[in-house]
Amino acid sequence: MPTIINAIQNRSSKRAFLPKPIPLDIQEKILNAAAMTPSGANMQPWVTYAISNQEVLKNIGDAIIEKMQSGVESDQFIQYYPLNWKAPYRKRRIETGVGLYTLMGVDRKDIETRTKMWHDNFRWFGARTVFFVFTDKAMIDGAQGALIDCGAYMQTIMLAAQEFGVESCPQGSTTEFGKVVAEILEVPQNLALLYSIVLGYEDKSAKINTYKPSRVDLTENVIFI
Ligand SMILES: Cc1cc2nc3c(=O)[nH]c(=O)nc-3n(C[C@H](O)[C@H](O)[C@H](O)COP(=O)(O)O)c2cc1C
Repeated sequence: MPTIINAIQNRSSKRAFLPKPIPLDIQEKILNAAAMTPSGANMQPWVTYAISNQEVLKNIGDAIIEKMQSGVESDQFIQYYPLNWKAPYRKRRIETGVGLYTLMGVDRKDIETRTKMWHDNFRWFGARTVFFVFTDKAMIDGAQGALIDCGAYMQTIMLAAQEFGVESCPQGSTTEFGKVVAEILEVPQNLALLYSIVLGYEDKSAKINTYKPSRVDLTENVIFI
């Protein structure tokens, strides 16, 4: 039985999966565990579409890629990344991206391969199950607390998944096309997509899955008093 610290340290974002959906009973176990995530006033502001229907996943991916290829940069409910990248976040973002491309032997100027790698997000890295997490627009109209709660929910899903040998990749790439996802899924008008999580069985032979970006030292972002 792994300890909680082991589970946290063993998780990393995987970007190549075997073509195997997650059995419904395991999805339910993961989601029941995630349902125990704390939230302010027990609001539980998440609404999850757990999708293993391949046609629906393909339709979402096709619609997003088509939108991108038509020159649209985003069609979203929330802006995830800062519009102006400042230190130290800009450097961390660049290092993380460069680390991944270097591992995969992709040149910085090789836009075609980089674009294909980005599009892999919308082919769900070969996985067959994706959770799309929405919140009620009323929860983020002038307030941001639900975003904190739904972020904690994300981590609980990813950690609980490991108990069943299920690996994951959180996705802000879908956040950027949240309205496209909402339209294809025909979700109620009151819902806004926050993010998705790809879930599946890791392709252990894939080099990309060995990527484990490091973290800054506590001295950079913890203040003990
Ligand atoms: C909210 C959020 C959105 C993310 N979006 C993406 C994404 O769209 N595509 C992707 O490949 N990785 C995405 N990631 C994964 C991050 O790049 C990754 O968590 C970070 O580099 C740390 O690596 P690790 O998860 O392997 O520890 C996202 C992570 C989070 C938390």
